[in-house]
Amino acid sequence: MATIYDNRVTRQRETLKDFFGGDEKEEIPDELLDRLFQFEALMTKYRCAIREITTKLEILNDELSASTKQNPIETIQSRIKRPYSIAEKLKRQNQPVTVEAISRHLNDVAGIRVICPFIKDIYAVEKMLIQQDDVHLIARKDYIRSPKESGYRSLHLVVEIPVFFSMKKENIRVEIQIRTVAMNFWASLEHQIRYKNESQGVQDIVKELKECADTIAKTDEKMQELKLRIENHEKKEA
Ligand code: GTP
Ligand code: MG
Repeated sequence: MATIYDNRVTRQRETLKDFFGGDEKEEIPDELLDRLFQFEALMTKYRCAIREITTKLEILNDELSASTKQNPIETIQSRIKRPYSIAEKLKRQNQPVTVEAISRHLNDVAGIRVICPFIKDIYAVEKMLIQQDDVHLIARKDYIRSPKESGYRSLHLVVEIPVFFSMKKENIRVEIQIRTVAMNFWASLEHQIRYKNESQGVQDIVKELKECADTIAKTDEKMQELKLRIENHEKKEA
């Protein structure tokens, strides 16, 4: 007798056949269906890890905004890498495109972007997050102290976080990019030109964007300095 599970799988198999435009008589192989379910299950785990880290960041922001009346975080964005980009990256690394290879070789399937008002907030958020005993730092790249050639600035962290499921605990990796509002404004526009050709027009834009990145960095530093002066002034007046 067919179980509820069997019926569901049969239904899903039929729907997928429509989706992939398969021959009416051709069955979707069990192996393919299995891989699809495994892939979906892995993506669910990454989504859960994003929720865990996002909650931690929101708690820090709430606590500090209550105690200091300032928010070290302006916004938190997140995304799961799309299947096409996952396959492309694995191929670039000469890895097989399998579900096992995803968790073994990719650090950025789950991505969180934290946008802060000031440069000091970036390092404060990093410290508060990393010192939590269930957050394990795997890699750190400081593109604020050492900007990329493009002018790109951000603090990149890869962390591993335990996620508790019904049967077991799993350590899941998340890439966190922390940057100022101004750095984010720049990166969003620069991203649009990153994969364009090398024509003279594009080269000019790249050069001018680099100049903008340097101007933005100076402005970020100046704003930080002015903020400190305002705070010191307030202390003297108190
Ligand atoms: P990827 O294979 O691209 O992930 O490189 P990687 O593993 O060496 O990581 P890297 O530290 O270079 O940063 C990867 C991510 O940072 C990218 O996917 C972008 O989101 C962002 N990033 C890095 N460099 C730039 C840049 O020059 N411009 C913009 N706009 N974003 C960048
Ligand atoms: Mg990436």
